[in-house]
Amino acid sequence: FTAKLDAADISKGTYPYYMLKEIDEQPAVMRRVVDAYLPADGSVAVNQSLLQALDQADKLYIVAAGTSYHAGLVGARIFEEMAGLPAEAYLASEFGYHMPLLAKHPLFLLLSQSGETADSREVLVNVKKQGYPVLTMTNTAGSTLSREADYTMLLHAGPEIAVASTKAYTAQIAVQAVLAKALGVFRKREVAKDFDLRHDLSIAAAGMQTLVDEKEQVKNLVAQYIPNQQHAFYIGRGEDYPLSLEAALKLKEVSYVHTEGFAAGELKHGTIALIEEDTPVMAFITDDVTAAHTRSNLQETEARGAHTMTIVSEHLAQPTDNIVLPDINPLLSALVGIIPAQLIAYYAALGKKLDVDKPRNLAKSVTVE
Ligand code: G6P
Repeated sequence: FTAKLDAADISKGTYPYYMLKEIDEQPAVMRRVVDAYLPADGSVAVNQSLLQALDQADKLYIVAAGTSYHAGLVGARIFEEMAGLPAEAYLASEFGYHMPLLAKHPLFLLLSQSGETADSREVLVNVKKQGYPVLTMTNTAGSTLSREADYTMLLHAGPEIAVASTKAYTAQIAVQAVLAKALGVFRKREVAKDFDLRHDLSIAAAGMQTLVDEKEQVKNLVAQYIPNQQHAFYIGRGEDYPLSLEAALKLKEVSYVHTEGFAAGELKHGTIALIEEDTPVMAFITDDVTAAHTRSNLQETEARGAHTMTIVSEHLAQPTDNIVLPDINPLLSALVGIIPAQLIAYYAALGKKLDVDKPRNLAKSVTVE
């Protein structure tokens, strides 16, 4: 299989930067994932021998770098919930050298936009040598990682040109959900049969579209919150914690505002000392169980001078919230939650007249360890 490339995929068209074009493309990417893997008859188009291998595994090790690692953190929860398979995400650059004590029957999932990241390849070579099955999910058919693995799945995000990864992140979450659903059904789990992913990804795509259509609102918030700031924080609990990590990476890598993502409940155990007058603290609130706690964590920072912003799921929203996210399946909430954060990063960089697509010191794919 070769990913189809046409001129429209690699041209900026009327966009000033690839990053904005790629943010806007995400609803279409969700539809491509649906077309590739989720036919209308309700089945899931995933290789049966991969499902058999996964069914025999007792733990899924998701190994990745950067944004792909953050997508892996989201995916791990989906695998556990839908397929009942213990799953954990690891940083490739650590895993290669400090391998944890492995389960009896591990299966490795290497997540990589480029399929060329040296840290991830090192892990692949190492675990293959030990005879363990390896699956890769990459955005590039024919990439090193997809060629060398036992199984491979394409992300279908289309060429991602901007250094900061956007649409590959949401594609990675969607394709992991596809596999988790397929395995859950293979294992005859009720929860997986009831998981109408084709429908949920369509709802996510529509929600993403609403958010990208309302980008002017985010632009205005950035103007109020970010100029002149050297530090910022994203906080969240549960599903919103890995989302906070990715949101923080986006903002720091393109705008050079030092930003940290924190588990909302952990901020008070030290890091709250960094909150000063007007420090932006942005909270994701998409989880019913933890919403009240996150709100109170945010108030603690406000009491210390923080300029707080809320990014909240519609059903939990209050009139004073700043950004409202359309309601979608809570397991997939990062798909819509990340859109305003990508836009915040984009407008913060644009406001500083930085080269949004090529941040300093960064490369699109890192082929050294
Ligand atoms: C580089 C890029 C990041 C990316 C990471 C992993 O550092 O700048 O955007 O997330 O590599 O890349 P991969 O291609 O393996 O997903």
